[in-house]
Amino acid sequence: MSETLDPGIFEFYAALPQQGPGRDSETLRVLSTIADRLPPRPVIADMGCGTGRTTLALAAALPASTITAIDFSEVFCRRLRDEAARLGIADRIRVIQADMAAPPIAPRSLDLLWSEGAAYNIGFENALSLWRPLLAPNGIAVLSECTWLSDERPADVVAFWTAAYPAMGTITENIERAAHVGYDVLDTHTLPAEAWDDYYAPIFQAVEDGNAAHLDPAFTAELAQERAIWRASRGSYGYVFYSAKPKAAS
Ligand SMILES: C[S@@+](CC[C@H](N)C(=O)[O-])C[C@H]1O[C@@H](n2cnc3c(N)ncnc32)[C@H](O)[C@@H]1O
Repeated sequence: MSETLDPGIFEFYAALPQQGPGRDSETLRVLSTIADRLPPRPVIADMGCGTGRTTLALAAALPASTITAIDFSEVFCRRLRDEAARLGIADRIRVIQADMAAPPIAPRSLDLLWSEGAAYNIGFENALSLWRPLLAPNGIAVLSECTWLSDERPADVVAFWTAAYPAMGTITENIERAAHVGYDVLDTHTLPAEAWDDYYAPIFQAVEDGNAAHLDPAFTAELAQERAIWRASRGSYGYVFYSAKPKAAS
């Protein structure tokens, strides 16, 4: 999603439960692998939070946490603010409409930096590099990133992603990119196929319900193509979580 998109597209996405592939059980599973590294009252940021599926899952799992949720979409931010108020946790969730490439967050303040399905917008390595100074000395970064999972890639899948996201890397390449900007990757976890269905199914239900009728048909055609590519992918790509910590100073 780019800043130049038709505002109607953001309205369309804001009505959906999530804006990218993911699922609370997977978020919590990854969180459980690093939870013992967090202080009792963790200070967290969720970069590219969308309407906050992840923000709210983290807030529920870590009831003593405070979370700064950042997204450049006004409508997504508003929706998350409203939902946090409805849940009675607005005092713990600060929603800021801002560019995650220049987030208004103090250096060395974050115990946990989370970002699902969003870092690609500014580049995975660039995001890790820009966000590293925000981490507290024992802070952890967890990013999910669309990743090549196998060398057996159908030709139409390669053609699609070469145009859509030429920088998409393999797990090994992404671990190297993280190392290049000063991190040790502690763990990786691949999102199961069902978490992609959680993203696509509500989109196409909304299209069927006529909720995209006012949008440029090219928008829904592109989404349909993206889903067709996913279905034809034969496991060649997927979203991978990378949990990383800044390398110890040598
Ligand atoms: C694919 S969505 C993922 C949203 C959410 N993390 C989720 O998993 O449902 C990517 C999000 O990143 C946001 N985004 C993209 N570029 C951004 C930027 N430079 N600064 C802030 N937010 C950005 C978009 O508005 C969108 O909400």
